[in-house]
Amino acid sequence: MNVLDLAPVLQRQPNAKSVLIDLLSATGDRQQALFAMAREVRRKHGCDAVKVRGVIEISNFCQKSCEYCALRPQNKKMTRYRMTVDDIIAIAEQVMELGIRTVFMQAGQDPKSDEMVCEVIRRVKARDKDIEVLLNLGEKSEDTYRRYRELGADSYILKFETSSPELYKQIVGTPLEKRLQCARWIKGVGMRLGTGNIIGLPGQTIETLAEDLMLAYDLQPDFMSSSPFIPNEDTPLETLGFGDVDITLNSIAISRILFPTALIPAVSALEKIRPGGQLQGLKAGANVLTVNFTPKDLRDRYSIYSRDRFVVSLDHALRTIADAGLVREGMVALS
Ligand code: 5AD
Repeated sequence: MNVLDLAPVLQRQPNAKSVLIDLLSATGDRQQALFAMAREVRRKHGCDAVKVRGVIEISNFCQKSCEYCALRPQNKKMTRYRMTVDDIIAIAEQVMELGIRTVFMQAGQDPKSDEMVCEVIRRVKARDKDIEVLLNLGEKSEDTYRRYRELGADSYILKFETSSPELYKQIVGTPLEKRLQCARWIKGVGMRLGTGNIIGLPGQTIETLAEDLMLAYDLQPDFMSSSPFIPNEDTPLETLGFGDVDITLNSIAISRILFPTALIPAVSALEKIRPGGQLQGLKAGANVLTVNFTPKDLRDRYSIYSRDRFVVSLDHALRTIADAGLVREGMVALS
């Protein structure tokens, strides 16, 4: 197998979808060859250094009703919190002191946190303008995205979750087109865009997963992620099984080949389903790990994947990077 196998996708040819279906289904030696190709693309493009991000989950209020997520307002069992600017800044300081160059703020879709996000962006950038401020706060107006950008925010993750408009509407409750519009606004105001899908939602097929990669290719994101579905307690999808880790790893590897220089995370959901899953993600072409800096009492209430989600520590991230034979971004390899 060689890189040219994905030429029909890169050139948007009619057989692009069948090529993707074939690669998403790869097992055994073919899967290993796919991973090797992804690693080769990553190396050739100088993207082997693993970026470590520090995430702070600043609010678990959410307006949306995504059936896979426990932050949905219908979940009355969840105690809600919204951090203060001072609390967030204190944690951001710790992140930066550990040499982590990306301060990542994540929350449910919570308009009441917009102002405080602006203030945090201002203060982080005033301390060090070279720190990347990354946001994952849901759908906002174009003006709000522009404001974040003008204050210095560098990048924004808004996953489309699934490319099927019917499935998206059914599971998320709002139109996919609205979400894609937001993604275009994010790019339009000058932030780097992260997007991606969940693998294992009810109704998804290998065809729709191939279409997810084609939609991502249309969006040309700077960051791309695929996460396996985790059935989350207190949600309508709580009785389902886990998403398929191997298909997720294949999706990561294909993403690396389609987006050679993109930042691609090995998400904590991989580790939750299969210990060593994040290491496998790095071996499949990922190059980002996100360390969780949310204080423990709040973190327990941000049960985005499940009540006992896998919480990534800096130790775990550094061990995983070393086990993959890679180095952390900004560090010099010891030979
Ligand atoms: N399983 C997998 N991914 C999930 N996300 C949220 N809940 C789940 C779940 N139960 C992902 C979504 C969202 C991101 C913040 O986390 O893709 O965009």
